[in-house]
Amino acid sequence: MITKTLQPPSSLFLLILFLTQIPTSSQSNDVAVYWGQNGITNEANLTQTCASAKYSFVIISFLSGFGNFSTPLLNLTTHCGGDPSSSCTQLASQITYCQKQGIKVILSIGGGFGTYNLTSPQDALNLSDYLWNNFLYRNSSSSSSSSQSRPLGGSILDGIDFAIEEFTPYLKDLARDLKSHPNVCLSASPQCLFPDSILASALDTGLFDYVFVKFYNNPSCEFSQANPNPFVNIWNQWVTSLKKAEIFLGLPASPAASSSGYVSPDLFVSQVLPVVNNSPNYGGLALWTRYYDEVSGFSTAIEISAMCTQQSDPKCKRSSHDDDDGFEQRFGSMSIDGFKVVYDGGNLGVQCCEMMCRKNCSCEAYAAVNEANKTGCQIWGKGSKFVEGHGGKGQAIYVVKHREPRTRIRFLGGQLLKKRLLFKLQSVAAIVPYSNNIDITEKQTGGGYGLSLVLELFSQYLLYATFAFPFGENIKKKVSIYLSSL
Ligand SMILES: *[C@@H]1O[C@H](CO)[C@@H](O)[C@H](O)[C@H]1NC(C)=O
Ligand SMILES: *[C@@H]1O[C@H](CO)[C@@H](O)[C@H](O)[C@H]1NC(C)=O
Ligand SMILES: *[C@@H]1O[C@H](CO)[C@@H](O)[C@H](O)[C@H]1NC(C)=O
Ligand SMILES: *[C@@H]1O[C@H](CO)[C@@H](O)[C@H](O)[C@H]1NC(C)=O
Ligand SMILES: *[C@@H]1O[C@H](CO)[C@@H](O)[C@H](O)[C@H]1NC(C)=O
Ligand SMILES: *[C@@H]1O[C@H](CO)[C@@H](O)[C@H](O)[C@H]1NC(C)=O
Ligand SMILES: *[C@@H]1O[C@H](CO)[C@@H](O)[C@H](O)[C@H]1NC(C)=O
Ligand SMILES: *[C@@H]1O[C@H](CO)[C@@H](O)[C@H](O)[C@H]1NC(C)=O
Repeated sequence: MITKTLQPPSSLFLLILFLTQIPTSSQSNDVAVYWGQNGITNEANLTQTCASAKYSFVIISFLSGFGNFSTPLLNLTTHCGGDPSSSCTQLASQITYCQKQGIKVILSIGGGFGTYNLTSPQDALNLSDYLWNNFLYRNSSSSSSSSQSRPLGGSILDGIDFAIEEFTPYLKDLARDLKSHPNVCLSASPQCLFPDSILASALDTGLFDYVFVKFYNNPSCEFSQANPNPFVNIWNQWVTSLKKAEIFLGLPASPAASSSGYVSPDLFVSQVLPVVNNSPNYGGLALWTRYYDEVSGFSTAIEISAMCTQQSDPKCKRSSHDDDDGFEQRFGSMSIDGFKVVYDGGNLGVQCCEMMCRKNCSCEAYAAVNEANKTGCQIWGKGSKFVEGHGGKGQAIYVVKHREPRTRIRFLGGQLLKKRLLFKLQSVAAIVPYSNNIDITEKQTGGGYGLSLVLELFSQYLLYATFAFPFGENIKKKVSIYLSSL
C-alpha cells in the first residue's frame, strides 16, 4: 500500500528520492587539451596544467614515430623526447598528480610532423603490445618492466589517442588489439571532413570512447558565422554516426594556434554551443593547445561567458526584484581580500559579476576590479565583512542583503511553494486509494497515474516535510547543500 510510505521519512530514503530528481540533461562542459607540442619554455608543465582545474582530459602529444617493428619514438618537443636518449620519465609523478585530480591522461600517437606507418596486421599488434607494456600496464612484480625503461616512467596512462594525419593502413587492427586489453580508453582526433579518410575504418569498429573532431585548418567544415549550415550538417553527421562515442568539438585555443577555424569565446557560447549541446553525445571541447589556452585565456573566457549568458534562474539566491534577497550598494571595503576574476577579452561587466555572485552560494559581496571602467570582477565569500568607508576611502561594493527567514519553508521559496506542495500532497492523497495496483512498468501516459509521478509528488512532500518539521540538523544540512549545488 502506498499510504504506508506517507510516514515520516527515514533520511536515507529521502536522499535516495533526492537523487532520482537530479536532472539528467546536464550541460557537458568537459575540456580536453593537447599538451606537449609547444616546448618547455612556453608551455606550463603537466602539474600546473592539471592544477589549473580547467581540464578533464590531457592529451600528451605525440608519439610521433612508429611502425615497421621499430621502437616507437616519443617527441614532446623541448619538454623531452624526440631522441631515444632524451628521457621523459620525469613526467611520471606529474601524470600521477593529474590522475589524482580526476583528469584522464591519454597518449596521442601520430601528429602532423611524424614518421609513422604500419606495414601489416602483425606490425599493428607489435605496436599495440608496445603501448600496452610501456604506457597502459605495469607488472609490479616484474623487473623487466622497471620504470626507467618505460618512456613515461612508472605511470599508467588512461588510453591512446589516434591523431593520425598521414595515410596509415591497419589502424582498425591497432584499435582492436588495444581494446582487447581491459580499461583502455580509445580516442581519435580526426579532421572535421566527414568521414575522415584516414581514420574512418578504425572509427567504424565502434571501439572509440571519445572523438575529438578538429574543426580547424579545414575551412570547408569549420564554423562560420556567415553561413553556419555546413558546420551544423557535418557536426550532425559526426554525432549521429558515432553514437557510442562522446564527440568533442576540437577548436584552436587562440587565433595563432591554427591557420583557420578560430571561434571567439563569445561566439562559441552564443552560437556554437547551442548547436553542439543539442547532441546527446556531445562531450565538450578539445583545445589545441594548452600553451595557446594559457596565452589567450580561452577556456576561462568560455566558462565566464557561459556563466553570464545562461538564462536559468540562479539557484541559491532569488532574483533581484524579490525584495528579501538582493544586493545593496554600499561604499567602503571588505575585511579580507576577495577572489578576483580578471578577464580582459570579453564582456565581463558588472552584470556578469552579479551573476557570478548569485551563482556562487558562498558569495557575500561583489565589486568591479577596475572601478573607473567597471571591468573585472571580485567576489567575497563567507567570513568577509563589509567595512563602511570614511573620508572618501573605499569603493562601491554590492553586498548580499540578508533577512532572517521567518519560517524554515521560506528558504525553499516561500508561501507559493508551500501552497504548491500542499496542493500536490492533496493530489497524492486523492490518488492513493486508486493506486493499490501500481505496476513498476506503468507509464504516465494513458491517463493513469504512474509510479514515477507518485514518487515525484511524494519526494516533494518529503522535501516540504523536512523543512516544515525539524528532522535533525544533519539531514537538513545535507539537503540544503544539495539544493545550493543545483
Ligand atoms: C612545474 O612548474 C612550476 C612553475 O614553474 C614549478 O614550480 C614546478 O616545480 C614544476 N613542477 C615540476 C614537477 O617540474
Ligand atoms: C621495414 O624495415 C625493413 C628493415 O628492417 C626494410 O627493409 C623495409 O624496407 C622497411 N619497410 C618499409 C615499408 O619502410
Ligand atoms: C619533434 O617534433 C618537432 C615538432 O613537431 C619537430 O620539429 C622535430 O623535428 C621532431 N624531432 C624529431 C627527432 O623527430
Ligand atoms: C616488435 O618487433 C620487434 C622486431 O621483431 C621486436 O624486437 C619487439 O620486441 C616487438 N615488440 C613487442 C612489444 O612485441
Ligand atoms: C608479472 O611478472 C612476474 C615476474 O616476472 C611473472 O611471474 C608474472 O607472470 C607477470 N604477470 C603478468 C600478468 O604478466
Ligand atoms: C604507408 O604504407 C602504405 C603501403 O602499405 C602506403 O600506401 C602509404 O603511403 C604509407 N604512408 C605513409 C605516410 O608513408
Ligand atoms: C579598464 O581599466 C583597467 C585599469 O585601468 C585597464 O587595464 C583595462 O584595460 C580597462 N578595460 C577596458 C575594457 O577599458
Ligand atoms: C565562489 O566564491 C569563493 C570565494 O567567495 C571562491 O573561492 C570560489 O572559487 C568561487 N567558486 C566558483 C565556482 O567560482
